[in-house]
Amino acid sequence: MVYPVIWKDNSVSLIDQTRLPNEYTVVEIHRSEDMAQAITTMIVRGAPAIGVAAAYGMYLGAREIETSDSEVLLQEDRHEFLVKLEQVAKLLRSTRPTAVNLFWAIGRMMQTAYETLGTVAEIKQALLETAKKINAEDLQTCQAIGDHGLAALPKNPEQLIILTHCNAGALATAGYGTALGVVRSAWKEGRLARVYADETRPRLQGAKLTAWECVQEGIPVTVITDNMAAHCMKQGLIDAVVVGADRIAANGDAANKIGTYSLAIVAKAHNIPFFVAAPLSTVDFELIDGSQIPIEERHPQEIYQIGETILTPPGVEFYNPAFDVTPAHLITAIITENGAFPPGDLLNAKNAKISN
Ligand code: MRU
Repeated sequence: MVYPVIWKDNSVSLIDQTRLPNEYTVVEIHRSEDMAQAITTMIVRGAPAIGVAAAYGMYLGAREIETSDSEVLLQEDRHEFLVKLEQVAKLLRSTRPTAVNLFWAIGRMMQTAYETLGTVAEIKQALLETAKKINAEDLQTCQAIGDHGLAALPKNPEQLIILTHCNAGALATAGYGTALGVVRSAWKEGRLARVYADETRPRLQGAKLTAWECVQEGIPVTVITDNMAAHCMKQGLIDAVVVGADRIAANGDAANKIGTYSLAIVAKAHNIPFFVAAPLSTVDFELIDGSQIPIEERHPQEIYQIGETILTPPGVEFYNPAFDVTPAHLITAIITENGAFPPGDLLNAKNAKISN
């Protein structure tokens, strides 16, 4: 399995996801500005992976802050340090607006900074520990999501064909994946026949990344273009849809890669179960419904250019929202690390976590 974000030799190693599947390149990140840039340019992408990367980015930023760290100046140093750390947090928060894991992880890092009593050096050490913890927890969470997802999948047929959209795999998390975590668990248990991967225009995360991950694991995979899903469902080729999420509102409305919403509609029309697999860190309980989820708009070049080729004539306008919101009523269940819950039941999912 691949791990897209690794703390190694005092820096962060990121698999450069803009170069897969043709080149496997690892980029070393030493500074918070470079981490912000890596998130913006999608060297690292996928909601949980962005959260893990930002947590390490916070530590890198903390490490860059110079204070005298003398016992005499302790309070002033601490105050100055926290002000500068807030600036690092601001920079990292500005990278991508939709995936709430980014804000969640940065919030957790700031909380560590405020709650750690002691010298600045001790706060920095605590920040590194928290970033490592966020990383390790996400891996465990994904494995739990995979296993709960397997239990929630239809029992018939014995070997399922699962359609997924974008990449919610190991590359999009600390490892294992959310939607692809369910796929991995199903594959291990002999419950999976094949994955259908939507290519996922415009960035092609399905064709490039999901297909690559499946090939690495020996999981049979068929890539289709996004407009083929309804036809495949009508042909009886799909047993279940499993996708990830970037932010889920309290009522279960779920933002995920653009095209997920239409997939949910066609799944409903064909009576095919539609699952969203995501950690509880993706649920934004402050938002009543999905209408308040900020949707990132990206550069039109993603639509009009592939490689060196310009696809459209001059004089055309573009609209490039990176995500859409699938209403809760189209979702069969949301698969979390605490089990699979009906979308309207997310508070129970959260409380199950507290009682664990
Ligand atoms: O723009 P991206 O590639 O960061 O979008 C990723 C997705 O939409 C994923 O499905 C989502 O983040 C879930 S990843 C486990």
